Amino acid sequence: MNERILLVGGTGFLGSFVAARLADRPLTVLARATSDTSVLPGGVDIRYRSLEDNPLPLSEISTFVYCASMGFGHIPQVLEQLESSPVKRAVFVSTTAIFTRLPSLSRSLRLDAEAAVQRSSLEWTILRPTMIYGTARDRNICRLLKFFKRWPVFPLCGNALWQPIYVEDLADAVVAALDSAATVGRAYNVAGAAPLRFADLLRTAGSAVNRHVTLVPVPLEAAALAARLTRVVTAEQVRRLAEDKAFDYSPAAADFGFRPRTFADGVRQEAAALGLA
Ligand SMILES: NC(=O)c1ccc[n+]([C@@H]2O[C@H](COP(=O)([O-])OP(=O)(O)OC[C@H]3O[C@@H](n4cnc5c(N)ncnc54)[C@H](OP(=O)(O)O)[C@@H]3O)[C@@H](O)[C@H]2O)c1
Repeated sequence: MNERILLVGGTGFLGSFVAARLADRPLTVLARATSDTSVLPGGVDIRYRSLEDNPLPLSEISTFVYCASMGFGHIPQVLEQLESSPVKRAVFVSTTAIFTRLPSLSRSLRLDAEAAVQRSSLEWTILRPTMIYGTARDRNICRLLKFFKRWPVFPLCGNALWQPIYVEDLADAVVAALDSAATVGRAYNVAGAAPLRFADLLRTAGSAVNRHVTLVPVPLEAAALAARLTRVVTAEQVRRLAEDKAFDYSPAAADFGFRPRTFADGVRQEAAALGLA
């Protein structure tokens, strides 16, 4: 039987690290005509297609890895195609954002997508990461690091728990989960080593770029109003700051040896990669 893997989302932030780890196996990456394929390992087989196009190139594929968003409504048609193909094994990357108690447009789409995967006849595994950061390709924490390098003062809005996951730890988790029979039919929350308060996250990021950060407490409702007026971030994003985002990953540790790094280690490595340390 052909053991070829089809990776969807391989040109994305997480996906490029997953592609690097799967490059020594028979691997095909689905990319769009507009995708930056320079982030993929040299010599990898690329099929140019969008998830909106039918059909997916599945005829020689036994294994499916999905690192694109499950919140854009593509999952029902993807599953329909997988279930009528030779594909048996599939790993899907979802998000811990499905646990938010705030109103969210994408939450119900993501929940429906996860439920459809769980009802499918595939040998499925779902991984739900927290916020992903790390390396020079990061789009989240890197903005904070660049900001602190210039302005070591920051508004402290809420002081909830955060537990961001380093992108390479998540890419390792995707491959380890794929390779572990124990993960079939299970969904796992995956996060950084330990939760930390927002204030500690900000101070730790500051010290990674050699800055002592001064935090100025701002009431949540004032920040939400400022967000609505300035439209720099949405009021919903501001309210999310008050929500704890801490998750138990012990089932992932037990089933596929998940051992994530601390935020202090990860952010130091990221600052060094960005030349900001
Ligand atoms: N980033 C985070 O902090 C975070 C947190 C929790 C969960 N997640 C989840 O983790 C996964 C990876 O996140 P990420 O940040 O690596 O995402 P990303 O950088 O935005 O990458 C998304 C990937 O999906 C591809 N894609 C998007 N729409 C497509 C379409 N219509 N047809 C084919 N390919 C399409 C993109 O192709 P192009 O290269 O052409 O754009 C890209 O390769 C996603 O499921 C996301 O929901 C992310």
